[in-house]
Amino acid sequence: MTPLKIVVHADWPVGTINRRIYGHFAEHLGRGIYEGLWVGEHSPIPNVEGLRLDVLEALRRLKVPVLRWPGGCFADEYHWKDGVGPRDRRKRMINTHWGGVTENNHFGTHEFFRLCELLGAEAYVCGNVGSGTVQEMAEWIEYITFGGESPMADWRRANGREAPWTLHFFGVGNENWGCGGNMHPEYYADLYRRYQTYVRQYGRHRIYKIAGGANVDDYRWTEVLMRRAAPLMDGLSLHYYTIPGSWEDKRPALHFDEADWFETMEKALRMDELITRHGTIMDQYDPERRIGLIVDEWGTWYLPEPETNPGFLYQQNTMRDALVAALHLHIFHKHCRRVQMANLAQMVNVLQAVILTEGERMLLTPTYHVFEMFRTHQDAQALATHGDFGTCGAGGRKLPRVSVSASRKDGALTISMANLDPARPAELRIELRGTAETFALSGTLLAADDIRAHNTFDRPERVKPQPLGDAVLRDGVLAVKLPPASVAAARLEPGN
Ligand code: AHR
Repeated sequence: MTPLKIVVHADWPVGTINRRIYGHFAEHLGRGIYEGLWVGEHSPIPNVEGLRLDVLEALRRLKVPVLRWPGGCFADEYHWKDGVGPRDRRKRMINTHWGGVTENNHFGTHEFFRLCELLGAEAYVCGNVGSGTVQEMAEWIEYITFGGESPMADWRRANGREAPWTLHFFGVGNENWGCGGNMHPEYYADLYRRYQTYVRQYGRHRIYKIAGGANVDDYRWTEVLMRRAAPLMDGLSLHYYTIPGSWEDKRPALHFDEADWFETMEKALRMDELITRHGTIMDQYDPERRIGLIVDEWGTWYLPEPETNPGFLYQQNTMRDALVAALHLHIFHKHCRRVQMANLAQMVNVLQAVILTEGERMLLTPTYHVFEMFRTHQDAQALATHGDFGTCGAGGRKLPRVSVSASRKDGALTISMANLDPARPAELRIELRGTAETFALSGTLLAADDIRAHNTFDRPERVKPQPLGDAVLRDGVLAVKLPPASVAAARLEPGN
């Protein structure tokens, strides 16, 4: 096998990989919040103030930088006042979008900020434009961030929280072209201008305002928003899901063949084109790249697992998802000068989750492991990477065989790799150019004997990282052999 020759330019930084690219999203959807994160203080499942301990500990290991809440489509139906005050007196409502189940509002503003505190994550709250008023949104900001005397700040204190919280990010609506109100971009742009006016900056920390962005390749939406409202926004969002089959005809998470595999990889790689094209439009209005492209929903979307509530979007997670995660993170690194945040959909038990739970049991998915293996890319300098990435594919599809991304922080390099080929190993010869330093090599590999391999509650460690054995660093060249359908992360620490 001829090795693929790739060059990593250690002296050619192309931008900073914002750690928020490794962000997450938790919506009031299915068993994402309730059961997945929140079990209540009286649960037999060990918890910290109602938040389940096993999940908290696993998430802490990921260094979750930012968490988006409460939706999604739920956000434009959420009335935050229903979710504060004594829990037993909180209003119960129907979660019309997601399964028609009763939402008891036990997880609300206080519980969300406590979760962020326990995770060490920044808070990204998405407001209600679709069915909420400007006043309601303004009062939520006052409740969360105002430190002085005011009706909302006093109410927060009466509800047990003296000091205001730090609200890092605020989204002015979600998918307002669809579930968030079925609006035209011109109408939403004007509403954005109006609503964001009342997102007041009370605290010492300035709230970063995010406008609801486009669905997939709706470039007109981006153009109208930028033309009409760019000076009033800090970020503009983009949603894109990797859906094998189609929106109307989704496919199962576990039963797939090589043709489905390649289709999934091709669709995951489409994120590159979408960011490039939305970014080009943004460049016309914002050549300095002040405004972040915020990919606040991404991930795989399959058929729900059989015999689960179809409105709960509960799906399993295989090596295929690990590859999708690795490809997306690499694409976000590549576009790190424009992409300032990305939020995987969703954190626990929903879509491409990093954690699944069943009663008191919990498992880490292959996607979790990729996030953990790649976490040293957070806030590192992305390095230029060139070379021969090979090809693979079937049925007329021609895809790169490998994907490689490199970064450097505090002298140490992280080189992450993915082999997209489901059947053939890949040999890589990665030359480190622009440095004469010596490094000590270590690394991890995520691989399995089947592309459909996944973790179950009976066998939770079938897929887990192993030491990267087939790798040698000599004379500035990293030689690595990647098994089929695998993800790896090499760590090069200065010294011998
Ligand atoms: O993540 C699930 C849903 O997908 C979100 O609620 C919505 O924003 C998107 O359509």
